[in-house]
Amino acid sequence: MSSQDGSKRLKTPRKYSGPARFITLEGGEGTGKSTQSRHLVSALAVLGVEAFATREPGGSPGAEYIRKSILDPERPDLSALSETLLFYAARNDHLDTLIRPSLAKGIWVVCDRFSDSTRAYQGALGLVSDAQLAVMEKLVVGPTVPDLTLVLDLPAKIGIERAHQRRGDGKSDVFERQSLEFHKKLRDAFLGFAKAAPERFAVIDASGDEAIVRQRIWDVVSERLLGGATHG
Ligand code: TMP
Repeated sequence: MSSQDGSKRLKTPRKYSGPARFITLEGGEGTGKSTQSRHLVSALAVLGVEAFATREPGGSPGAEYIRKSILDPERPDLSALSETLLFYAARNDHLDTLIRPSLAKGIWVVCDRFSDSTRAYQGALGLVSDAQLAVMEKLVVGPTVPDLTLVLDLPAKIGIERAHQRRGDGKSDVFERQSLEFHKKLRDAFLGFAKAAPERFAVIDASGDEAIVRQRIWDVVSERLLGGATHG
């Protein structure tokens, strides 16, 4: 059913009763991950699914504390391995204090960035080896692998422009300051991960209107995790 403005209306939802799911949103800068995380939580609520949006680095008090240091534009240079260990230290706290306890209580977790960001930023582009990443991943993440990872995909140039607009006059963080070439490689890295593991990933075209992207995401979540119990 469509409303007069052409947008799709929510149909009467079927209630969901199943296990809590862990969903991550990944992608370059300015792709709308945090906005879409919130939309997804609201859409899940319509089905009676308890869910919340969180983010990395950060999400728990300890991890937010580490986030400030990692993203501080004034911070000294760190080796790729040291930087990666900080991301995993934050992730460890986030998993232990928020993500795992929530999933255990049946609450869905929608996380803006997770380990695939580390694989892309510090792995594909930061020169930390796959073997080093595998050790940290096993130690910190273990079996808490996302059920679904949505890669919000945009041409790098558009994403960077959006990120700059969003930030206004504020200072860009250490990663936003990287070159366009860096951001193009980042996009290729995320698309490569998705191609290699299509059962966990879905690539979402993040261009166009926020409401359209929201619907694209909902179609995938509903099909993959809710057995079609859906609105849209
Ligand atoms: P954001 O909250 O604006 O996405 O900023 C987080 C920045 O940190 C972003 O530039 C991506 C980067 N990042 C990594 O380099 N590695 C990671 O593991 C994560 C989670 C984020």
